[in-house]
Amino acid sequence: MRYLKSVLGTKKRLIVAVSGGSGLIYAKDLLESLKSFEIETHLVVTAGAKQVFPTELKGTLKAFEALADVAHKDTDLGASIASGSFRALGMVIVPCSAGTLAKVATGFTDNLVARAAHVTLKENRPLILVLREAPYSRPMLKNMLEAKDAGATIMPASPGFYNQPETIAQLVAGITARTLDLLGIDNSHSPRWKDSDGT
Ligand SMILES: Cc1cc2nc3c(=O)[nH]c(=O)nc-3n(C[C@H](O)[C@H](O)[C@H](O)COP(=O)(O)O)c2cc1C
Repeated sequence: MRYLKSVLGTKKRLIVAVSGGSGLIYAKDLLESLKSFEIETHLVVTAGAKQVFPTELKGTLKAFEALADVAHKDTDLGASIASGSFRALGMVIVPCSAGTLAKVATGFTDNLVARAAHVTLKENRPLILVLREAPYSRPMLKNMLEAKDAGATIMPASPGFYNQPETIAQLVAGITARTLDLLGIDNSHSPRWKDSDGT
């Protein structure tokens, strides 16, 4: 946290983007968990995610967006987060669809999610892509490598089972915890390997 403070001054902000992959529950869990930290969350939901939303989450989109401190429109390319002068500790795209991955890999910035991701890369800030597709196509695998080479972290929505999770919430929490770890946010959102015996 000391590192984050020195980089960001007093206000810490995180961009959370939700694209049209399956797994919106991961985004919900991340946004809820971020409420425990002094981090201002900036949310963008793509049109694709809005289409997936009713099939995966209960409640309204408005209530979902209210989990964030600020909600931006994906069509608003003039939003604060579209500029490198907006200081943020990084960005998570969760879930990240194959389509949004392709935009990140190629720098094709036709919506706010793609623009903010491009800005995050050019400013050398952490960009975490929580991908959800199975199996992966060759274009997707190539785009993953391009995005990785450009500085993004490829984080498949592929939970671990070593802690013997019994609920979907526990599985989801495992991905959220690792995502927070990647951003340098100290957390105990999910048990760690060998947490139980303290070694
Ligand atoms: C119910 C539903 C589930 C989907 N699941 C996935 C998925 O898991 N991964 C993916 O890459 N695309 C998935 N798609 C397709 C994307 O939503 C679609 O390609 C969309 O254009 C992505 O645009 P976006 O990245 O701007 O949100 C799904 C679509 C629907 C309607």
